[in-house]
Amino acid sequence: MHYLRALSLTMEKSTTLQPETGGKPIVMSGIRPTGYLHLGNYFGAVQNYVKMQDEFRCYFMVADWHALTTHPDTKELRNNIHRVLAENIACGLDPEKVALYCQSHIPEIAELYLLLNSLAYVGELEKTPTFKDKVRLNPNNVNAGLLTYPVLMAADILIHRARFVPVGKDQEQHLEIARNYAHRFNTRYEAVFPEPEAFNYHQELIKIPSLDGAGKMSKSENQYATLYLSDDDDLIRKKVMKSKTDAGPTEKDSPMPVEIKNLFQLMQLVCTAETTTHFMQAYNDCTIRYGDFKSALAEGMVKFISPIREQAKSIQSNKIYLEKVMREGAEKSRESAIKTLREVRRVSGMNYFT
Ligand code: TYM
Repeated sequence: MHYLRALSLTMEKSTTLQPETGGKPIVMSGIRPTGYLHLGNYFGAVQNYVKMQDEFRCYFMVADWHALTTHPDTKELRNNIHRVLAENIACGLDPEKVALYCQSHIPEIAELYLLLNSLAYVGELEKTPTFKDKVRLNPNNVNAGLLTYPVLMAADILIHRARFVPVGKDQEQHLEIARNYAHRFNTRYEAVFPEPEAFNYHQELIKIPSLDGAGKMSKSENQYATLYLSDDDDLIRKKVMKSKTDAGPTEKDSPMPVEIKNLFQLMQLVCTAETTTHFMQAYNDCTIRYGDFKSALAEGMVKFISPIREQAKSIQSNKIYLEKVMREGAEKSRESAIKTLREVRRVSGMNYFT
């Protein structure tokens, strides 16, 4: 949802279903600690988190229970969690302004997940495209957690009665499911949950494409076609220079193949408008040299990624600080989660004391 529409909707609707936040609309989002953060995570999610932290009441978490559905080996989990936290902070997230926490530190999420499971239908969950993709990719580990992944995600969001969820395009369907559960709960019992909406500062949710013209940047697939926030300068240059291009335009103003369009999309994110316009004109009048185009893109990427990488490294080495962030984040998050669960138990008739 676009920013301005979001704010006007908030003014219309949020007062009844939202706990007291000093007038700030509530925002929640999460990232799985299943690998290194990449440009897709940055532009689809974290960039919005950082922009939202002053105007909204924000809850941002590392989704370690979700990671278990596809990554049962937990050897790297602690390291990955520390890195995701450090990378979020290096991107500009301020743990003083937001609640930055780890999902498994909030047991209330698990209780809400359990209750929501009775509102979730197996047939619907089986049809979710992300479930089908994961079954196809990993047919030997079709666990129940994978099937109920969207229920847990709904619990993450609803536990804070969040209105807005900054996410990339790939999470759109999960948001629709979360809205359905909020609606079902409110209809069956009493209105407790606002219906959460996917959020982006631009008109549309974003999908950052991979460098090979096929699919999107991803933490665990397509690693050579994905730019990670931890990549060193040489690796960034190598990946960009190897990105897929075609033989080049032969007629003026010819339509762009998808892989070239993708590279221009990436250029717009990290290079100046003049640089992008220069290469766009060169494409349109057939004088573009892809080598020069990719070098300019690579330098833009290096300039963008290297300060985040260096900052993240230094934060990640400070374990005492990261543990303090996690502990304080969990405290803020539990305070809100406990209030919601109290309401949930009350309206669903699950409080047996007078
Ligand atoms: P995850 O960990 O896959 O990705 C974290 C965030 O990054 C966005 N993203 C992208 N955006 C644009 N282009 C890409 N190529 C790209 N790749 C990833 C994702 O949309 C997401 O916003 N299910 C979630 C984690 C989660 C969550 C939640 C999110 C758990 N509970 C509650 C929101 C609210 C996931 O797997 O994200």
